[in-house]
Amino acid sequence: MELLRTPVEMRGWADARRREGRRIGFAPTMGCLHAGHLSLYGILRDRGCDEVTASIFVNPTQFGPGEDFEKYPRDEASDLSLLREAGVGAVYLPGVADMYPEGSQTVVDVTGVSKGLCGDRRPGHFQGVATVVAKLFNAVRPHVAVFGEKDFQQLAVIRRMARDLDFGIEIVGAPIFREDDGLAMSSRNRYLDGADRIAALCLSRGLFRAAGLFGAGERDPLALAAAVRSEVEGEPRATFEYAEARNPETLFPVTPPTGRVTLLVAARVGPARLIDNITLQEGGQQ
Ligand code: PAJ
Repeated sequence: MELLRTPVEMRGWADARRREGRRIGFAPTMGCLHAGHLSLYGILRDRGCDEVTASIFVNPTQFGPGEDFEKYPRDEASDLSLLREAGVGAVYLPGVADMYPEGSQTVVDVTGVSKGLCGDRRPGHFQGVATVVAKLFNAVRPHVAVFGEKDFQQLAVIRRMARDLDFGIEIVGAPIFREDDGLAMSSRNRYLDGADRIAALCLSRGLFRAAGLFGAGERDPLALAAAVRSEVEGEPRATFEYAEARNPETLFPVTPPTGRVTLLVAARVGPARLIDNITLQEGGQQ
């Protein structure tokens, strides 16, 4: 497995592979890898990529003041051995100074779909994400890039950016990996100790409860979102942030009864800010 540490090195590697006609697949991460991350590399293989590439970069510009940038879990040695086992051929590991040299002043702002939901609670977050992903795309030069549906709004932002800026990269969404008890896997789950770990289940429990109502015929998006909200608000250790019903393609709010809807939820549990979502559609879950 090759390790590339600067944009020039990474780009050199990618250009050489492209000249050989190799199809490059890419899934960026902030490290502290779990099975949800690793599933992304299997998807790239299944999609016929000849080169499966990863990046590990805890991107300072997507963390707000007072957020967890400093204490975000980092474990490069273990991440690299997991990526090797997952069959990844090259890992891009830039440093902060390589990514943001002094004087850098260009950002990517996806103006519409970055608003609402997490965009309102984390000002500047999606601008940081779009900017770093654009830079990662320019260094890794993938043909295909995969992003988890766990971060549903992020996926919508990246899709929009790739289309608007003519990246010519196929963007693929990957299903959410969950722990056996339903909790969506996340690097931030490491912040949860005993009681908080149990309390964190209120998000997935709320979504599954809404899925049950949908299965029983409930089609009112506001009633479905309210069911998620009441489950989270019923958990004393959780601080509710939002539960909303959105169109899965546009992320616009949906109000009339509908046969296809994404429910998105966010809450704080102890030191962790957690998000989760589910897409419901007639004829079974997505
Ligand atoms: P990170 O949180 O490390 O996630 C990296 C990728 O793994 C994202 O595409 C995310 O959606 C996906 N992922 C995380 N948890 C998952 C789960 N339980 N099931 C499936 N996929 C999951 O998202 C980021 O990093 C950053 O914002 C990044 C895109 C790397 C830009 O800095």
